[in-house]
Amino acid sequence: MAMFKDQVAIITGGASGIGEAVCQELGLRGSVVVVADINEDCARQVASAITDHGGRAHAVCIDVSEEEQVKRLVDETVAKHGHLDYMFNNAGISIGGDARDLKLEQWRRVIGVDLLGVIYGAHMAYAVMAKQGAGHIVNTASAAGLFPFPTNAPYATTKHAVVGFSLSLRLEAADLGVKVSVVCPGVVRTNIYQTATIVNAPRDQATAQFNKTFGQFPFKTVDPPQAASTILRGVERNEAVIVFPGAFLWLWRLYRLHPELLQRSGLKMVRDLRKIRSAV
Ligand code: NAI
Repeated sequence: MAMFKDQVAIITGGASGIGEAVCQELGLRGSVVVVADINEDCARQVASAITDHGGRAHAVCIDVSEEEQVKRLVDETVAKHGHLDYMFNNAGISIGGDARDLKLEQWRRVIGVDLLGVIYGAHMAYAVMAKQGAGHIVNTASAAGLFPFPTNAPYATTKHAVVGFSLSLRLEAADLGVKVSVVCPGVVRTNIYQTATIVNAPRDQATAQFNKTFGQFPFKTVDPPQAASTILRGVERNEAVIVFPGAFLWLWRLYRLHPELLQRSGLKMVRDLRKIRSAV
């Protein structure tokens, strides 16, 4: 409990879903919470909810794909509070569909937010934390960073990169007193499923297919507060890769030994999507 008390934490994508729940739990645990999000109104509401409960928080409007904005966020946080203890690079988007239908502009947007956004946040925070000789960078990837995710190639590409980046930086940073973890959730019930762009296929049918695949045993969906508790427990333990719920952890272990295991289910996902894909 005492671990996060009086610690300064930035959470990107803090206005909704997993990020919002992490902000709220950190607020309850006595952290100084910087809610950073492109959605300013919702970020302010999250910060107000924390201060209304006696916590300390403020909102910052930011697009994580803009290097200068991320630099300003970190610089201003350190100028205001004197230190930065936790950097949660959590903001993310999804643009999926048959890879033939995706525009390069859509690839660039996902890479900008889900990969460069994480790298910018980690890079700026690392400079500060290395000087402090302490701090913890927590990057959100996904189970899609551990397994292939056909029908959502840009997302899987960036999330795999975030895993590789985080594990590499973790080894470099350890000697400087800086910790790095990467979070790989399975399915968490958040707005990302409503805001995701699905290219060239009806959203309701694509969502129904996704729910059918991941709503069945052994998968279990998680709500954001549960996700936040699991993430913060992993951070407390300084886990390298925080994978949840348990079915994904076991599947990941099995998949590393037998990658061919996912061949059939992957093919089924692709064929299902192609049944509802519009002719172009
Ligand atoms: P969400 O849609 O509820 O929250 C994402 C937040 O990021 C929103 O507040 C949004 O405004 C913000 N955001 C989007 N683009 C931004 C930008 N350019 N700059 C700053 N903020 C931006 O989604 P959720 O599910 O909470 O996602 C959080 C992270 O968790 C994402 O990185 C996502 O890829 C990852 N994740 C989510 C899973 C799920 O099942 N919900 C599973 C695995 C990973």
